[in-house]
Amino acid sequence: MPAPHTVAVLLGSLRNQSVNRRLAQIAVDSAGPDSVVSIVEGLGDLPFYNEDIDPDTPDGAGSVLDEGVATVRAAVASADAVLVVAPEYNGSLPAVLKNAIDWLSRPYGRGALVDKPVGIMSASSARGGGERMRVDAVKAIGIAGGRVVEEVRVGLRASEVGALGEVDEAIVSQVTGAIEVLVDAVDASVGV
Ligand SMILES: Cc1cc2nc3c(=O)[nH]c(=O)nc-3n(C[C@H](O)[C@H](O)[C@H](O)COP(=O)(O)O)c2cc1C
Repeated sequence: MPAPHTVAVLLGSLRNQSVNRRLAQIAVDSAGPDSVVSIVEGLGDLPFYNEDIDPDTPDGAGSVLDEGVATVRAAVASADAVLVVAPEYNGSLPAVLKNAIDWLSRPYGRGALVDKPVGIMSASSARGGGERMRVDAVKAIGIAGGRVVEEVRVGLRASEVGALGEVDEAIVSQVTGAIEVLVDAVDASVGV
């Protein structure tokens, strides 16, 4: 049996009671046997991106890469695919997610997202289900070298996602289907 595909989740909310964390947890718990989904923890501990502390830039030459950044980069680089799960903040991406993407986009052209299939999900308050976050995430991830899989589309109202442990079968099946599409994109890119 081939090894399962690995999917690294970039979670765009730091809130303890985050609905998007619950959505991400559904992805972790309900992924099929051919995929292992894990949340990349620690995005909230990353320093704001700054070339002065990026050893790969002229201004940061001689500096030491932040340990948290190195860990997050390694988790993403070693995964077969990435799943972004984030709310919409002021019609765009939450800063914690954008900051992670900025770190992952460097060194430019050789970042951890290059050629990586990326799916996007959101649970947000407004009726659009995080569509404006999605549009901006597609743009930033694309510039960072990721390959957004447009068919992975889960955009929910936050109120639709049940409490932790309260499993809504319709949402589970949407999330499971989306992970399958994401993993199929990995196979397509390696010609399986
Ligand atoms: C600073 C801030 C800005 C927000 N802006 C939007 C927005 O533009 N669109 C929207 O649908 N919801 C917006 N919301 C509401 C979030 O979508 C909602 O609180 C969501 O549950 C947050 O996700 P979380 O539960 O995973 O933390 C905003 C919330 C905050 C705190």
